[in-house]
Amino acid sequence: MDIYCGDLSAELIGKEVTLNGWCRYIRDHGGKLFVDLADRTGIAQIVFDGNLLEQAKALGREYVIRVEGSVRERDKETVDKENPTGKFEVNAENLITINKADTPPFEITDEKGKFLAAEDLRLKYRYLDLRRTEMINNIIFRDKVTKVSRQFFWDNGFLELETPTLVKDTYETGARPFIVPSRTKKESFYSLPQSPQIYKQLIMVAGLDKYFQVARAFRDEDQREDRQPEFTQLDLEVSFRDENYIMRLIESLIEKILKSVMNEEIKLPLKRLQYREGINRYGSDKPDLRYDYEIVDITNAMKKSDYNTIKRVLESGGKVKAISFSADYGKSERITKDFMLSVIEIAKTNGLKGLTWLFVENGKLKSVPEAIASSLSKAENDILSSLKSKDGDVIIFAADLDETLLLQALGKIRKIIGDKIGKFNTKFSFLWVVDFPMFEVDSITKKLRPSHNPFTAPFTEDLALLEKEPEKVRGRQFDLVLNGNEVGGGAVRINNADLQLKVLKMIGMPEEEALDTFGFLINALKFGAPEDIGFAVGLDRFVAVLREKQSIRDFILFPKTKSFDSPIDGSPSKIDDKRLLEDYKLKRAE
Ligand code: AMO
Repeated sequence: MDIYCGDLSAELIGKEVTLNGWCRYIRDHGGKLFVDLADRTGIAQIVFDGNLLEQAKALGREYVIRVEGSVRERDKETVDKENPTGKFEVNAENLITINKADTPPFEITDEKGKFLAAEDLRLKYRYLDLRRTEMINNIIFRDKVTKVSRQFFWDNGFLELETPTLVKDTYETGARPFIVPSRTKKESFYSLPQSPQIYKQLIMVAGLDKYFQVARAFRDEDQREDRQPEFTQLDLEVSFRDENYIMRLIESLIEKILKSVMNEEIKLPLKRLQYREGINRYGSDKPDLRYDYEIVDITNAMKKSDYNTIKRVLESGGKVKAISFSADYGKSERITKDFMLSVIEIAKTNGLKGLTWLFVENGKLKSVPEAIASSLSKAENDILSSLKSKDGDVIIFAADLDETLLLQALGKIRKIIGDKIGKFNTKFSFLWVVDFPMFEVDSITKKLRPSHNPFTAPFTEDLALLEKEPEKVRGRQFDLVLNGNEVGGGAVRINNADLQLKVLKMIGMPEEEALDTFGFLINALKFGAPEDIGFAVGLDRFVAVLREKQSIRDFILFPKTKSFDSPIDGSPSKIDDKRLLEDYKLKRAE
């Protein structure tokens, strides 16, 4: 019987089995040779002795072999408690060496605390890195989430439809597109889709009213731990429905994934937070609500203080904002003076001129140096009561003339300190962020740009503001946030050709350019476009956050590095194929 290494169990004792796998560890005990045989399900101990001993001694690490043998229980003393199959072993009766292997450039090991090879090396030899249990589990986890999602959408009447990969270059998300030259049309290019957005809108015009796709998206933008130039979306679009339908649908999907893949429960419906409230209370449009510390305006309380730096900002009309963290200050090894000094540096790199930190002891404000707390003595009671601070709390505050910058910087610091303290109210904090402004105003050029994408519909009640006060118009956009990460976003679409053209013009596109770029969409909207709403979950990011990991690269088989390189194949690379080059040159010369 063919089995996987991870299948070894009591039911198989005495049975003849065949296993295929890689020789992970080899231990030669003279008269017996033990091989830990690995495949994607686990590790099985194989014992070679007698006739097979000589042949087995020729085996090396990561050799690929097939073994036939019988399953038996191990002696009590040799049971490996760390390994789920550790009570059993296979007594080999036949060995076929399928292939030899060079010595791997790094040790393929699952042992905790073992040095992990540098990521560039892991990516270059990704097929070896992917043999590690942690990576196998990440990839299998992703597969399970995708499988549950597909089934969920099918069960809800969605069709899985494919949109093209070679598309027109359309300004969509603010990222640059990746472009592909055309061989047949001189000086012309395709673009790789930044998302299937426009095509799914066209699918709705076609009347295929419930679409989904596990879709690849491509964006040439600054890289971060949670971004890849090519990533995957669980993408959907629906006609004749509104925000509530999509939010409920995604909530049921999340419930299903958590239950069936992770055996976790979630309380529904999810909280909905207005964008403005998120910014004011948490300094973020994707706040992490696993901890409930909030940003509090202490401008009034501070008016009584003798703290000179703050006084000057207040005199010029600035604001003071603070956060109080229960940090066990004085006892905690995490929140120390050194850490707080590093937080001040972070504040500066985020545009603040400075940041003050204090701690609370015996109901009083304390500081290092003491002079800061003394200068606050007249404001002390007001500060403590407005922040509801108690002993052991750390308070941070900053003042600035630019309230937006102040909130943004404190929002980032809130996350850094919250993560550092690491005491969470819940494992998974999902929430919806709603009521986004339709446009953002560029701080330098003062031009409008879409805060989601230029296809988002405004709230009907805000339409009257579109001409005169566009920055006050709310877009019918909503984001899904998990533990402080944006894991999905969607919106009601504009389904009126005139309004679509108007919005494109408002974001600075001359009519001719708008029609040239988006004419195919605008035209389609004239041929009976239904009400249309869509959403996309960032699959790579979603699975990484669910597994409480920062880097999405560990959930992608062959990811790119931060500098967009692909170590596995050395791309991007120069093209040497003479014929190919000639093809392009000939066409260009025409
Ligand atoms: P959006 O641009 O918000 O929406 O993308 C949807 C989700 O995709 C994830 N994401 C990324 N993941 C990895 N690497 C990236 N570079 C990256 N960029 C985005 C995020 C994000 O929430 N067409 C719309 C959706 C719609 O309205 O239907 C769109 O693409 O988790």
